[in-house]
Amino acid sequence: MNNLLLYCRPGFEKEAAAEITERASNMQCYGFARVKDDSGYVIFELYDEEQADLLARKLPFRELIFIRQMLVVTHELKDLDLSDRVSPIIEAAQGYAICGDLRVETADTNEAKELSAFCRKFTVPLRQALRGKDILTKKETPHRPVFHAFFMANDHLLLGYSYSFNNSEFHMGIPRLRCPADAPSRSSLKLEEAFYVFVPKEEWDVRLTSGMKAVDLGACPGGWTYQLVRRGMMVTAVDNGSMAQSLMDTGQVKHIRDDGFVWRPGKKNIYWLVCDMVDKPARVTHMVADWFRENDCQEAVFNLKLPMKKRYAEAVHNIEVLRGLLKEVDNAFVIQAKQLYHDREEITVHVYNKYWVSKLEPKA
Ligand SMILES: C[S@@+](CC[C@H](N)C(=O)[O-])C[C@H]1O[C@@H](n2cnc3c(N)ncnc32)[C@H](O)[C@@H]1O
Repeated sequence: MNNLLLYCRPGFEKEAAAEITERASNMQCYGFARVKDDSGYVIFELYDEEQADLLARKLPFRELIFIRQMLVVTHELKDLDLSDRVSPIIEAAQGYAICGDLRVETADTNEAKELSAFCRKFTVPLRQALRGKDILTKKETPHRPVFHAFFMANDHLLLGYSYSFNNSEFHMGIPRLRCPADAPSRSSLKLEEAFYVFVPKEEWDVRLTSGMKAVDLGACPGGWTYQLVRRGMMVTAVDNGSMAQSLMDTGQVKHIRDDGFVWRPGKKNIYWLVCDMVDKPARVTHMVADWFRENDCQEAVFNLKLPMKKRYAEAVHNIEVLRGLLKEVDNAFVIQAKQLYHDREEITVHVYNKYWVSKLEPKA
């Protein structure tokens, strides 16, 4: 058995299935997506089993929108004896390449959450046993494959592996972030998660750094602005609503009551554009494209709220439109889109220009 297991937000299984089916078939890998509504995962059964590994290596994970994690499933273990769940796993994993990390996981659903305390505890004896059999390196080794045990019930699991160069680095594909007590809204976490997912940590020093100028469209009450301010940026917050006083008191925020679709900066000195306005995806997409085309920002994060139907098609369509509009001016734009953990009926899109970013210098 060699299938792909794909984690997603519960309720978005059809989108994840449509995405893997299309992306795999573009690579001449054909299969069938098994979908259970609201399960938080999809299993993609390949007609040629060897292609599961090929996809896990070659289908760029960073380009996937609705898929939080992608791994090859090698075994399904059912009706496990609860007094010894380790031995069957060890037996099944004989022949695995040596892995560098272990993740014992569940789906991101309320029912599965009941298993998460068990998963945490079970990690310790399983890790020890895998290390004892040289299936896992003695210390965490970032460049080796990751060993996954995905529990569907306390006696039922899927066993598999992902490649560390082409997976989510996070347990269950979800960065664990805590909402700071002084953030004006919980949606602050959306922008923080976007930074973790889209901007490599080693580049934060140049791409998310103090002194940069940022614009936040649809900023109120200020959860996203808060993330920019805490990184030392000077922020223009455009919204007709009210900004949190705590942010205004920092002296780093200028609040402009205006229409975010119309307002434009007077000078070409804005680095970040972030936008959380709730509107039609096509309208937001064209607006962001205009900002880049007119050199009004250098890097952007924005949300596209998705309609209830045809969410995958809508997401892909807008990204293609954006790609086309940006290609008309330059070939160096990179566009990534992801349904983040903190996104509900929406996806987050990140855009930057490789060439412009390569010219940024670390602060002395
Ligand atoms: C989801 S909220 C933003 C929350 C914000 N990102 C935060 O973290 O606190 C959307 C905001 O967009 C604003 N908005 C919607 N349409 C707008 C427009 N055309 N111009 C400016 N602001 C707009 C709304 O007033 C609302 O405050």
